[in-house]
Amino acid sequence: MATFTLPRNSTITKGKHFPAPAGATKVRTFKIYRWDPDSGENPRTDTYDVDLDKCGPMVLDALIKIKNEVDSTLTFRRSCREGICGSCSMNIDGLNTLACLKPIEDVKAEVRIHPLPHMPVVKDLVPDLSQIYAQLRSVEPWLKADTPPPPDGERLQSKEERAKLDGLWECILCFCCSTACPSYWWNGDRYLGPAVLLQAYRWIADSRDEHTGARLDALEDPFKLYRCHTIMNCTRTCPKGLNPAQAIGDIKKMLAERVV
Ligand code: SF4
Ligand code: SF4
Ligand code: FES
Repeated sequence: MATFTLPRNSTITKGKHFPAPAGATKVRTFKIYRWDPDSGENPRTDTYDVDLDKCGPMVLDALIKIKNEVDSTLTFRRSCREGICGSCSMNIDGLNTLACLKPIEDVKAEVRIHPLPHMPVVKDLVPDLSQIYAQLRSVEPWLKADTPPPPDGERLQSKEERAKLDGLWECILCFCCSTACPSYWWNGDRYLGPAVLLQAYRWIADSRDEHTGARLDALEDPFKLYRCHTIMNCTRTCPKGLNPAQAIGDIKKMLAERVV
């Protein structure tokens, strides 16, 4: 399927309305962005009234209910339903987050759902992540060591060395942070963005990795790293409570302090 960036001059038209079943008493309205680039039509917002008495508590439960029982054409990603896989990231009520971790009751009025902002759309709530995954590959997010591991065991770390990875290894690559970052919106083709930079730092900070210097060299670039202006949207939006802005700051500090 082809992917397209939404044309700047396109308008979001009013879409279809799917009322709640007769007799529903606890109805909540979901307004969901719909767009199929292959259709040649403008995006639209469809409205679904869901009976919360017959629905699980999370926004993802409502999306699954709508797809299973009301409108099978609604398209979104999800897998684990536990905040682990990172697939169900989307913009809910103006905030990038995971649909499986977002309680419906946390949204006071109608629930407005859009795909992650400033990304090409494959269909409906599914963004095209090709560029961001290519950027992830570029930082080589795996252990790089030239010396072989000990013959009788694994490469070891002290407790203190291992603790330096806390706040980094938990990242689930949902990209809520990168798609909330204004610098990434405007320079996403050259700026790596908070998610990828946090991943880069996860390996820079790993005492077992032997390519720290080369990793830092690769990031010392006015666009790849220094487009971060410490706006902090990334940290505010991370559904796992991580701090990518801090990781970016730590990379900058290491570059500033290293002896050339
Ligand atoms: S702190 Fe940096 S990475 Fe985070 S939102 Fe701001 S500019 Fe983007
Ligand atoms: S840092 Fe947080 S928001 Fe960013 S990709 Fe990782 S888990 Fe998602
Ligand atoms: S479905 Fe896996 S994080 Fe939401």
